[in-house]
Formats: sequence, structure tokens, C-alpha cells
Amino acid sequence: MKLLHLDSSPLGAASASRRIGAAVAKTLADATPGTTVAYRDLAATPPAHLGGELLQALRPAPGAPAPDSAAVRAELALTEELLAEFLAADVVVVGAPMYNFSVPSQLKAWIDRVAQAGRTFRYTAAGPEGLAGGKRVIVVSSRGGQYAGSAYEAALDHQEAYLRAVFGFFGITDVQVVRAEGLAMGPTVRDAAIAEALAQGERLVETA
Ligand SMILES: Cc1cc2nc3c(=O)[nH]c(=O)nc-3n(C[C@H](O)[C@H](O)[C@H](O)COP(=O)(O)O)c2cc1C
Repeated sequence: MKLLHLDSSPLGAASASRRIGAAVAKTLADATPGTTVAYRDLAATPPAHLGGELLQALRPAPGAPAPDSAAVRAELALTEELLAEFLAADVVVVGAPMYNFSVPSQLKAWIDRVAQAGRTFRYTAAGPEGLAGGKRVIVVSSRGGQYAGSAYEAALDHQEAYLRAVFGFFGITDVQVVRAEGLAMGPTVRDAAIAEALAQGERLVETA
């Protein structure tokens, strides 16, 4: 099995998603001997945001010369590396804090690199089609508030809902969320939420 583990919290040892994500990745890897793990710290080494030159190189406008500087070639190589890593993975563990109701921009920058027409999805006469199906994605969601209660709270969630939409668009139907929420609601709620998420992570091997 090939497991890709992504972290996107910049908070190091203080990060809940890093702690829970590491435990989830270890549980899944230990359950399948021979698993190879690729790890990418998107907070330590974030992919650059899509700029004009890179976009032009990725999607050249008809008749326009594609930019070919050393910097663009390096960014194209990184894009290929991220795509290959993602496409090769059987299981992807995504550490994803909620930032301003969505995901950290470092994680969004990774999504912008792997969301490539013809690689992870394509448009057909019948509509969009995902090309990266057959994987299992575990989203390790951490957030200061609570969003899994009322419809109003759920409507504010552009983090888990967004990641489900993105991976679904890529054709991935097996998306599970390991959630620690209410992390800013005092130490009692925080500790219980992290303990529950760690326990949920351990149960993932039973639901594989
Ligand atoms: C810049 C920033 C924005 C945040 N925005 C939200 C938010 O919109 N909603 C929320 O519930 N928590 C928010 N939080 C709290 C984080 O989701 C929470 O601290 C979580 O534990 C972060 O994940 P981590 O511990 O893995 O770093 C925010 C935190 C930061 C630093």
C-alpha cells in the first residue's frame, strides 16, 4: 500500500491536526505491512500560489509561447512531483485545520497544483469526470469552533465540505473525516475532542 500523508498546520508541536494525522497515518501503515509512506509538510514547504507565468505554462493560450524560464521549469517539475505522489497513493491522510471557515492557503496551494484537467479530472460531453478514483482519503479536520450541529453551523463549514467536494470531483468516493472540533472552547472540550479523534483514527482500520 502507498500512503501519502500531508500536513498543513504551521503550528508544529502545538498542532492538533499534526498529532492526530501522524497517529492516523501510523495506524493505517502498521495495519498493512509493507506500506510505503510519502510525507509532505505543506506548511514548512508550501507550493507557491499559481501565478500568471505558471498558469500560462500549465495551460498555454493558443498561439502564445509557453514561458520557459528556469523558475517556471522548477515549478512545473514540482507540480509533476505532487501529481505523481497523489496519483500513486492508495490512501491519502490530509491534515486540515479550519482557517477562516476554509482550509489554510498552504493546503489550497497544493490543491491548485493537483487539480489538473486531464490528470485528476476531465470534462466530457456528459460533464466533469474524476480521474483519480479508487483511493481512500482521510481528512483530519481540526477546528476551534463546532460545526457539526445545526444547519446554520454546517453552512459555515467550507473546510470539510470543500475537501469532500474537491476529492469527490477527482472521482474519490471513499472520503472519511476524523474530526477534532471545539478546540478553542477550553481545555476540557479540547482534550476530549482530541481524545475522541485519536480513538476515531484507531477505528479506521476496522472500516477499511
Ligand atoms: C488563522 C486562523 C484562522 C482560524 N479560523 C477558524 C475558523 O474560521 N473557525 C474555527 O472554528 N476555528 C478557526 N481557527 C482555529 C483553528 O481551526 C484551530 O486552532 C485548530 O486547532 C487549528 O489546527 P491545528 O491545531 O492543527 O493547527 C483558526 C485559527 C487560525 C490560526
